Amino acid sequence: MTYTPAITGTGVFTPETSISNAELVEAFNAYADRFNAENKNQIEAGEIQAKEHSSEDFIFKASGIERRYVMDKSGVLDPEVMHPLLRQRGDDEPGIMSEMAVDAAKKALAQAGKGPDDVDAVICAASNLERAYPAIAIEIQELLGIKGFAFDMNVACSSATFGIQAAADMVRSGSIRSALVVNPEICSAHLEWRDRDCHFIFGDVATAVLIERLEDAKGSHFEIRSTRCETVFSNNIRNNNGFLRRSRPDGMKDRRDMQFMQNGRKVFKEVLPMVSQHIADHIAEEGVENTQLRRLWLHQANKTMNDFIGKKVLGRTPEPGEQPNILQDYANTSSAGSMIAFSKYSDDLGDGDFGLICSFGAGYSVGSVLVQRHD
Ligand code: COA
Repeated sequence: MTYTPAITGTGVFTPETSISNAELVEAFNAYADRFNAENKNQIEAGEIQAKEHSSEDFIFKASGIERRYVMDKSGVLDPEVMHPLLRQRGDDEPGIMSEMAVDAAKKALAQAGKGPDDVDAVICAASNLERAYPAIAIEIQELLGIKGFAFDMNVACSSATFGIQAAADMVRSGSIRSALVVNPEICSAHLEWRDRDCHFIFGDVATAVLIERLEDAKGSHFEIRSTRCETVFSNNIRNNNGFLRRSRPDGMKDRRDMQFMQNGRKVFKEVLPMVSQHIADHIAEEGVENTQLRRLWLHQANKTMNDFIGKKVLGRTPEPGEQPNILQDYANTSSAGSMIAFSKYSDDLGDGDFGLICSFGAGYSVGSVLVQRHD
């Protein structure tokens, strides 16, 4: 016997503090001035490069980002610190990722009208995990009082859609009745805030979806018609931090490659055709025409990129609201971006409407979820 999976609830945890482009640029420029003053002699001798100022205008034009939420604002904006200051949690208290995810998960459960006893599995799918083990997902499972099992997974910006595919396939096969897929993303802690090329890109957030058997849905829900995942290896988005770090001769040094690194131009050029083709193939295999897609909830990395994908997929410029962007307020929140858009902009769809969630990013990876609304 197989079952039809459906998304029955979603939730978003948004941090209390946000940083505007103006605040960000002011802090960065103060840091750059200090760096240049401290390294005046080496800069004059041509041994190191002076740091150039960042600009609000560039950030908005290049990305569409206006502000970003963060778990700690004070450290990021202190020119002497330039990273978030997050208290190390004791082993006997909840981890920071778990806390964020639990908030989002409770909202998803409330929307679905379900409780912990209705959930059989928790998947924590995110770009970075605050520890190797025990799994963050098992801590979330414990905090929510859920029986069954839980595990972590990481496919960078595509973690959420790959997690949804894993959960949907388990529901379909009957091995579980339901799963929570949570995406706590503390991107501020793997962003190099001292690098002008990327210091504006990321923000923090957590999202959650509840996936259940369609027949168990209590209210309106989104049937998961099908999912598709694709990966092709690329070094153009890379983070070398990992457990082998200490075993290297320069192990504990402040190495740039231990944070988010990207060749943004190449990513832009190479990922666009991959995503457009992926979506076209997915809907064609399902027998769904692009004219039937009422909404696209795309990964939120860059507005120009999303505008291009929307136009390519629909064959015309999307109408306002057809392809909602949230990155002006949240920036790139890695795997959570498309899920924030889905959570905030899906209530107005009508019975039978089709929509498509699509993520893309490091790997390279692309994941798509074709959904159909039922009231
Ligand atoms: N303020 C002012 N100028 C800046 C700047 C800043 N913060 N950052 C870069 N610049 C300058 C550069 O030095 C460069 O100057 P030059 O032309 O004199 O060399 C110029 O602006 C253009 O920089 P570039 O990095 O080529 O900009 P871009 O138009 O490619 O935009 C990204 C940069 C990152 C926004 C864009 O490439 C992008 O979004 N790529 C895809 C990213 C992505 O999806 N990543 C996935 C992560 S999950």
